[in-house]
Amino acid sequence: MENIKAYVTQHKDRFINELIELLKIPSISADSAYSQDVLNTADAVKKALLTAGCDTVEICETPGYPIVYGEKIIDNNLPTVLVYGHYDVQPADPIELWDSPPFEPIIKKTDLHPDGAIFARGACDDKGQLYMHVKALEYMVENNNLPCNVKFMIEGEEEIGSTSLAWFVERNQEKLANDVILISDTGMISNTQPSITTGLRGLSYVEVEVTGPNRDLHSGLYGGAVANPINILTKMIASLHNENNHITIPGFYDKVEELSTEERAEMAKAPFSLDDYKKALDINEVYGEKGYTTNERNSIRPTLDVNGIWGGYIGEGAKTVIASKAHAKISMRLVPNQDWEEITELFTKHFINIAPKAVKVKVIPHHGGQGYVTPIDNIGYKAANKAYTETFGIPAIPQRSGGSIPIVALFEKELKSKTILMGFGLDSDAIHSPNEHFGIFNYLKGIETIPLFFKYFSEMKK
Ligand code: BES
Ligand code: MN
Ligand code: MN
Repeated sequence: MENIKAYVTQHKDRFINELIELLKIPSISADSAYSQDVLNTADAVKKALLTAGCDTVEICETPGYPIVYGEKIIDNNLPTVLVYGHYDVQPADPIELWDSPPFEPIIKKTDLHPDGAIFARGACDDKGQLYMHVKALEYMVENNNLPCNVKFMIEGEEEIGSTSLAWFVERNQEKLANDVILISDTGMISNTQPSITTGLRGLSYVEVEVTGPNRDLHSGLYGGAVANPINILTKMIASLHNENNHITIPGFYDKVEELSTEERAEMAKAPFSLDDYKKALDINEVYGEKGYTTNERNSIRPTLDVNGIWGGYIGEGAKTVIASKAHAKISMRLVPNQDWEEITELFTKHFINIAPKAVKVKVIPHHGGQGYVTPIDNIGYKAANKAYTETFGIPAIPQRSGGSIPIVALFEKELKSKTILMGFGLDSDAIHSPNEHFGIFNYLKGIETIPLFFKYFSEMKK
């Protein structure tokens, strides 16, 4: 595949322009105001897959947004790679913090992306990364060197919990049969140090509601004599961590896998600068669970974070009021062996338990999913590493990520295959934040590396 580099160089401008067109459609799955755009994006992905060389592409209806399923089967005796990605994106707000409109992609240089990066919501998560696979397919079909069968399953609800994908996978095991699942929806250490994601955290996401009096009250007439639900909620939340930043929910750590000293030493070898980390975030100090490093805190340790909190008066000026209700959205990132449904139950019990009698508490579970770890002694990992070694000039480092792709554990359960996470984003690409971007270097490197994975995986599978 010597000509992959040349092919990418030759078609680079078109590859970038096609991605820019896809990024213009605001496929925000969380907000029903954008439902037509989400559907239009599914159509655009279908067209792109057909143009790139899939034999058939279907828009598969589900109870929610459709799954785009495409395939090119060249020989039933050859292995099959199933590519997964998502065409939905996160909401763009707070929109006022974007330097350019989120759905009007522009290319700008940054310190980490001297070749330029495409700024748009979804540029890295996940439209840019899924489109690398579409262009890699185009290359392999065009140059007649697709070495195996390929199936594409691109969903539109990843950012809201993949409910319809779970429904689809459970009903289509045969259609989705494969030898390995390939996903680009994670990151790597840096543009000079590739890494392969070997772990994802699980997730339990809940919303809580604390109710005090049955109506908003004058904070002078009633203040001091009744429970203020905002005071109570913040106190309850504060109590969920102790002075060492351990989570206080009974049983929360029972199943957490403790890594051996050797495994932790291995992890610590990955290049990392605490100074750069602090500088990039403009913080004086890092903060977290006692006894663990920053990289351990954000990958092998579970967490509990408030994602949003509201209640009372937040308009202009002052209003003296004791609110009737206070709310918060809380996420718990989980590590392998912690079961998300069990953790959701532990949280619910504990939260109700610690509430003073003066308030009523509701816990509303949202969604969740199990974590995932993949061994590095399988041919999927080896093929990926060989591909990276060729395109980056050095081998990749295995690294566990703090993020979650809950559907990966379900793939293993339902389809009985391993997932290889070949992500090309950087942590600094601001996914889910204002000014999300994806490096041109990363985009093109991805397109170069993916066909090599196909080649080496097919060779090793023989
Ligand atoms: N692509 C991300 C997950 C990710 C990013 C994993 C970077 C590792 C490195 C995915 O789109 C995502 O945002 N997942 C959600 C979970 C989902 C259930 C909403 C997450 O991690 O918050
Ligand atoms: Mn994603
Ligand atoms: Mn995401």
